[in-house]
Amino acid sequence: MKNVLVTGSEGMLGSEVVRHLKRRSDVRVVRGTADSLDITNLAAVKQAFERHRPTHVVHCAAFTMVDTAEKEPLKAYTVNSEGTKNLAFFARELDAEFLYISTDYVFDGSKADAYVETDEPNPINVYGDSKLRGEHNVQTLCERHKIVRTSWLNGLGGVVNRNFIETMLRFSQTRDQLSVVNDQTGHVTFTFDLAPAIGLLLDVKSYGVYHVTGEGECTWYDLATKVFEIAQKSVTVKPISSDQFRSLARRPRHSVLRNTRFEGLGLPLLPHWEDSLREYFRRRRLAEGLRQPESRGPSRDAQYAS
Ligand SMILES: NC(=O)c1ccc[n+]([C@@H]2O[C@H](COP(=O)([O-])OP(=O)(O)OC[C@H]3O[C@@H](n4cnc5c(N)ncnc54)[C@H](OP(=O)(O)O)[C@@H]3O)[C@@H](O)[C@H]2O)c1
Repeated sequence: MKNVLVTGSEGMLGSEVVRHLKRRSDVRVVRGTADSLDITNLAAVKQAFERHRPTHVVHCAAFTMVDTAEKEPLKAYTVNSEGTKNLAFFARELDAEFLYISTDYVFDGSKADAYVETDEPNPINVYGDSKLRGEHNVQTLCERHKIVRTSWLNGLGGVVNRNFIETMLRFSQTRDQLSVVNDQTGHVTFTFDLAPAIGLLLDVKSYGVYHVTGEGECTWYDLATKVFEIAQKSVTVKPISSDQFRSLARRPRHSVLRNTRFEGLGLPLLPHWEDSLREYFRRRRLAEGLRQPESRGPSRDAQYAS
């Protein structure tokens, strides 16, 4: 029986990981929410490990606001680097296996090809640097570690309206024209695809860094265009460059990750992002129906028909 502590269990990915693992009869899930387990509080982390004695940690908690991290670097480093160190320290004490969720933003995006797991990271923003320091802490402290770098996450858990798809849909309520960056290329990854992949990785005894992303590259412009197409929103999307879109944090231009090690284990690659985007809308409709049974009329379904 695996006793799995999931940190950030109310976040976008963490909530999906919990949902997935709870279906397994060989796993007992311990949820660590931001309230019940503040990873920056050493005493709270110690107490959680003593109380639950996890055999595995799936560390999804993080400070994820990339632009805010530029203004509040201390907060980003405290959560992503120091918080991770706290967890890794007590995981080592119990000889628990440690699976850390990391990001494509550890790379600078200057490589023309896709990044493989052995490529040298070189973050260009605070968030990426704080996550890389988290990686180093895990590597230093826990021999049995898996670092799962993923990218461009979208999902229906956590604070849903923070994700890119929901942001686009929100814009579509008030605007019929939108400018979206078209010179950053990456892999959109859906939490409902990544959570089962994390479940599979928990079962293998091969440690180190893994890249795990949805299949197919795209730009933010491509994603926005597809969102409006599937949602049947008549929004004109204008492609712009990163230089035309002012943001506090620099972002890698080509943060395309190749899932070499994951595939090498014979594990199934994640679906293509366009297929998963359709699946996202299907799940979204279901969730809407469950939340608002009174709105079960045809109008709402037609709005998001794929
Ligand atoms: N989102 C992406 O596009 C993306 C891409 C690549 C990798 N990742 C990585 O994937 C993982 C999951 O990201 P996500 O998108 O699911 O993020 P998320 O929705 O922001 O979830 C992160 C969770 O961590 C919690 N948290 C923050 N500070 C904490 C603390 N001190 N102690 C305990 N919990 C704390 C947050 O709580 P509050 O909401 O209350 O702050 C939230 O529930 C992260 O490691 C992230 O770096 C994300």
